[in-house]
Amino acid sequence: MKVSVLLSAAGSGERIGRGPKAFLQVGGKTLLDWALEGFSWADELVVALPPGFQKEGLKTVLGGQTRQQSVYNLLQAATGEVVLVHDVARPFVVRAAVERLMEAVRAVGAATLAVPVPDTLVREEDQQYGEVISREHYRLVQTPQAFRRAILWQAHQQARAQGIEFTDDAQLVQWLGHPVALVEGDRRMFKVTYPEDLALAEGLAQVWSS
Ligand code: C5P
Repeated sequence: MKVSVLLSAAGSGERIGRGPKAFLQVGGKTLLDWALEGFSWADELVVALPPGFQKEGLKTVLGGQTRQQSVYNLLQAATGEVVLVHDVARPFVVRAAVERLMEAVRAVGAATLAVPVPDTLVREEDQQYGEVISREHYRLVQTPQAFRRAILWQAHQQARAQGIEFTDDAQLVQWLGHPVALVEGDRRMFKVTYPEDLALAEGLAQVWSS
């Protein structure tokens, strides 16, 4: 079964404020290079990059205004029967977690990595401590997410036609009415989002072996 990895790497990295995240350096390599190495086993790799940031020697597409639009552009270029959508903001790709995900997508057709919520989860109500939500029923959703390409393509086309935007692809497929398996992720696949995450990533890069 041919597998295409689709890297959404076209974000502007606003919250960190040092240009597109794909080109931030951690442990002497860009986040993009970390992700590319993590998926070097894939049959096909396609990367969505911001305008003006194309990279030689790679199959690339232009990113869209939103993450969903970037993934739509990636899907148009993908040829695999299974697609793995991954955010470049998660540079550390844990092989065992990806293997679990691949097993699930073969069985279910759609699957995502997710991790438990380690902290107490509370609703903020006017800056006060509001309702506590029982964390055991909640998961933090990670990428990669894996789909049979035909299912994800149908979901994207339908959402586009109706002008609906989601923050991840699992939501799109669920909205289409297709089940999405939740697969145990790995906390090392955290999303580099805030400036302080760079120090965490730098530390992990020093001891990294997937
Ligand atoms: O901004 P955020 O961290 O939620 O973005 C998640 C991922 O989506 C990042 O890897 C980012 O590069 C990507 N993205 C994209 N195209 C956009 C916006 C975000 O590929 N227009």
